[in-house]
Amino acid sequence: MPQTIILNQRPVGKPKLTDFKSIITPLPVVGPGEVLLKAIHVSVDPYLRGRMSDAKSYLPPFELGKPLSSGMIAEVIESRNDNYSKGDYVFGLLPWSEYQSSDGSGLRKVDGQQAPLTAYLGILGLTGLTAYLGLSEIGKPKPGETVFISGAAEAVGSVAGQICKILGCRVVGTAGSDEKVELLKSQFGFDEAINYKTAEDLNKDIAKACPNGIDVYFDNVGGNISEVVFFHINSFARLIICGSIAIYNEISRPMSIAVQPFLIKKSALMQGFVVRDFAPKFPEAMQQIATWMAEGKLTYNETIVEGFDMIPQAFIDLFEGKNKGKMVVTI
Ligand SMILES: NC(=O)c1ccc[n+]([C@@H]2O[C@H](COP(=O)([O-])OP(=O)(O)OC[C@H]3O[C@@H](n4cnc5c(N)ncnc54)[C@H](OP(=O)(O)O)[C@@H]3O)[C@@H](O)[C@H]2O)c1
Repeated sequence: MPQTIILNQRPVGKPKLTDFKSIITPLPVVGPGEVLLKAIHVSVDPYLRGRMSDAKSYLPPFELGKPLSSGMIAEVIESRNDNYSKGDYVFGLLPWSEYQSSDGSGLRKVDGQQAPLTAYLGILGLTGLTAYLGLSEIGKPKPGETVFISGAAEAVGSVAGQICKILGCRVVGTAGSDEKVELLKSQFGFDEAINYKTAEDLNKDIAKACPNGIDVYFDNVGGNISEVVFFHINSFARLIICGSIAIYNEISRPMSIAVQPFLIKKSALMQGFVVRDFAPKFPEAMQQIATWMAEGKLTYNETIVEGFDMIPQAFIDLFEGKNKGKMVVTI
């Protein structure tokens, strides 16, 4: 019988398996104008942690006892909707259900011949768009400038770093293992990379890796790494605040340094970034990403976990850095 994963309780601190519950749901009946979807690939993303709390944010919180949802590639296995045929693959922000019906709203067809289907959850999806639009709309890196990326080996960070190399920048990043540091330099072309977990003096390491200071900071992580970065920003630096995974599981409000004096002294711009605010620019951004991929200038990593019931564990593992690149659960 088909499974659905619901939010059993709101996580306190780091999420755990008991925060989730798998329930059996009947196979939906397909009404007029609807399609029956079978889940094929499910994206797990750090931002889902915010939606598991009941705090207000740019997206509403998940409801207790109701299905969680995220980016999904699904196969149309039955169609009573003229826009979709049996065998089509679609992307949508969909509930964590093995089977579900849909009236087609919010679905977008994806072509498995053009690219592996999982790529539409990563570099050819919100991951690529986040990297590209964070840079083009806020960071605006110029050739010769130094770009510093926290969470550099992550899905977003690794794409952002490669784009900055294409644009002729010096690119430096942090990651949580020696293996990821090596990947940043050998696979993604970073000029320098720092293992933030083993660094004895991050301040010194950043100074050494960024001898001309930092012009653009692409922040995926927040926390301690970001605090050190402020000491290295140049005049008119641009700071893209994209994610704060280091503090998503904090129970109390984290203490942090006052950033205002740094921003004033350096006439720097620090801006929160939410990719969906730039939805009108998605087609143009996607076109550029696809072109760079076709030219062999962009590559990506994925960690694929198998089994519908592994979705909660795969999500939890993001906070342990167990993924290399986009974390995807394949059903
Ligand atoms: N604003 C937006 O519109 C938007 C859109 C997409 C994503 N985001 C944000 O961008 C960030 C990156 O997303 P993603 O999809 O690229 O992530 P991801 O591929 O899912 O990677 C998560 C990685 O975060 C690192 N991490 C986990 N806990 C950490 C900690 N305490 N301190 C430092 N690093 C930690 C781990 O790598 P290590 O091994 O290196 O620790 C882990 O592999 C996230 O914060 C996400 O919420 C924002």
